[in-house]
Amino acid sequence: MISGMSDDPEYHPDPYSRAAASATRLTQLAGTSFDAAVVLGSGWLAAADAIGTADGEVPLADLGGFPAPTTAGHGGAVRYLNAGGQRVLLFLGRVHMYEGHEPATVVHGVRTAIAAGCRTVILTNAAGGIRADYTVGQPVLVSDHLNLTGRSPLWGPQPPAGYPGRFADLTAVYSPRLREVARSLDPALAEGVYAALPGPHYETPAEIRMLRGLGADLVGMSTALEAIAARHLGAEVLGISLVTNAAAGLSEELLDHADVLAAAKSSAERVGSLLSQLLPRI
Ligand code: HPA
Repeated sequence: MISGMSDDPEYHPDPYSRAAASATRLTQLAGTSFDAAVVLGSGWLAAADAIGTADGEVPLADLGGFPAPTTAGHGGAVRYLNAGGQRVLLFLGRVHMYEGHEPATVVHGVRTAIAAGCRTVILTNAAGGIRADYTVGQPVLVSDHLNLTGRSPLWGPQPPAGYPGRFADLTAVYSPRLREVARSLDPALAEGVYAALPGPHYETPAEIRMLRGLGADLVGMSTALEAIAARHLGAEVLGISLVTNAAAGLSEELLDHADVLAAAKSSAERVGSLLSQLLPRI
């Protein structure tokens, strides 16, 4: 038996139908389908209120397929609201591989959102800045990623009939059009390549030097698997990293999750208002 398949308690033979079932529950509870989803990363929770007034909120535990989050700063609910005519799902946190979850579980929210009608998926995260010109508190548009998790959400049986095949094209994962819209609102927005590592430990300085050599500008522990799953299903993806710290070895500071959350929180209003301006224009 291949490890991680049917001996794994999270293994589901058809994660697509499971997401469709979660989406049916969600649209029934909310009384509507949706246009766009936003996944809030570490510390971005504080931005949720700046994005808009919620019409409602559903605990993820009520939708099926979502495990309980185990990370401080990540909430276990999805909010919904109207942003200038766009019906928006706001995931107040995410689950990560480092919590012990399978890629299919990590991307269940994104697949549920797309099954609930979303054609746009905005993935936010906290990231270490590798580029010297990034400053703590700065939002950066993700232009591409290096998936260094060693895993794929498309791993496993063929997607069922009616879904795209497993060999997804990743030439333009992060929509050039959506990045253009974001830059039209804030021309100072930088772009960068995001390296996704499994974590949960932070990197060594040698690993950061290696990542820089590989072309990474940002480093984090999320986003890439969700972006692959969203792109596979044809959604347009926008990735926004909030630089919460200089990557390991690039400053005198040691890395601490509490500092990462505090840095994200102090930028919450800025990034929340960016999202609130962006959503009506997607
Ligand atoms: N490395 C990995 N993940 C992170 C970092 C980092 O420096 N900062 C926030 N998330």
